[in-house]
Amino acid sequence: MAIQRPKGTQDHLPDGSPKLSLDTRAAAFQHVQDTARRVLERAGAQFLNTPVFEDPELVKRGVGGSTDIVRKEMFTVYYFGDHGGFILRPEGTAGIVRAYLQNGLKQLPSPLKLWTHGPMFRAENVQKGRLRQFHQVDYEVLGSTDPLVDAEAISLMVDVVAALGLSGVRVKLGSIGDPADRDAYNAYLRELFGAHVERLSDDSKERLERNPMRILDSKSAGDQALIAELGVRPMLDFLGDEARGHFEAVQAYLTAWGVAHDIDPSIVRGLDYYRRTAWELHHEGVGAKSALGGGGRYDGLAEQLGGPLVPGIGWAFGIERLLIAMDAEGLDVPGQGGPLLYVAALDDDYVGHAATVAMKARQVARAEFAYRAVKPGTAFRDAERRGARLVALIGSDEMARDVLSIKNLSTGVQSVVPAGDLHTFLAEAASQPPSPEPHTPVQENA
Ligand code: HAM
Repeated sequence: MAIQRPKGTQDHLPDGSPKLSLDTRAAAFQHVQDTARRVLERAGAQFLNTPVFEDPELVKRGVGGSTDIVRKEMFTVYYFGDHGGFILRPEGTAGIVRAYLQNGLKQLPSPLKLWTHGPMFRAENVQKGRLRQFHQVDYEVLGSTDPLVDAEAISLMVDVVAALGLSGVRVKLGSIGDPADRDAYNAYLRELFGAHVERLSDDSKERLERNPMRILDSKSAGDQALIAELGVRPMLDFLGDEARGHFEAVQAYLTAWGVAHDIDPSIVRGLDYYRRTAWELHHEGVGAKSALGGGGRYDGLAEQLGGPLVPGIGWAFGIERLLIAMDAEGLDVPGQGGPLLYVAALDDDYVGHAATVAMKARQVARAEFAYRAVKPGTAFRDAERRGARLVALIGSDEMARDVLSIKNLSTGVQSVVPAGDLHTFLAEAASQPPSPEPHTPVQENA
């Protein structure tokens, strides 16, 4: 058998590929990225890219040494002669905050809104919607502690799902409080679970020492049963006055804007950098345990990475999960479509000329050509398979008169176009609505 792709990864394929699903369709990924770009750039977010591999210390200090991500799910990469290795980024936020600090982005107008998309890597147990290489759309705002920024961030997330056409999305909103609130909660959890250590999983015994809150997002069924049985009080009960005031202000904005949200007192999120506002978006198509996206405030992260105090907040969607949710709602995305013009030569001697015509046509429209001489019937069939709207055939007559015979495949109308008028003809054709019958892509190996 030929070499296969690693477990937990997916190929993103062109339309027409056999066995294509929405979450493996390259055009669908592009559609999500383009939709997010439209929504986020209208809100003033600027695009940036950071490396796919980073210093392990960044992830340890950023995401947190007690998280599953750092303890169990990091991919390390080495090059020859290197002993420290690098980490394939499990998420985008720590790298973006590093880039902000390292490149002096503090000098840009504040609050600074940034966004990116790209692959992330976590060595998780693979299942539907849970991959080892997955893709996120990520939005971050740096430089403000204002609850208005939190509410705007959540609202933008809702705008992205709405722009994708999704309707069955629920916002679950909570707060993780300030560090002192979290210390108080951890002390409570330590005492509570400390009385039942023998029933905790080995991982959670360790969590009890390092960061008891992490027990709450344990994947062990035994831990979850104990949590339910003990009736653990939620983090929200432990909020101090400031964090509570902030949380209420966020809710007030969301309510004023009509952004539906449910308070979820038990939200803890799986990363350690969060403070105050934290939330997740859920969709039935993805399953109760997996979020469509999530985010929160991380005012201490820049300092944890060795920089000055820079408050921040942000979120990320999993693109695969958005596509799974869209599929569950029966939503589709437009394909790339076919070329406006397909040029075919009827004789070997004219193949070069057909290529020249197509390449000139590309100054105004998408154009393709046949790489060998074909009969008219084959030219029309090939053009249809590619979804072309116009076909130009080049034979001896067209060569002698320096014209193109162009057939419009949707109307059947034939035109003789002087070579010099091609651009005008194509611009006119492009402005006409395409065929009333949408083109159905022909499977390449059907
Ligand atoms: P996260 O909740 O770890 O947050 O991930 C965000 C989203 O990425 C998840 O809701 C999910 O849709 C997707 N995702 C995570 N792991 C996987 C996986 N193994 N397979 C498929 N999809 C996955 C973060 O990553 C934070 N950096 C979000 C953030 C930005 N917070 C502040 N700024």
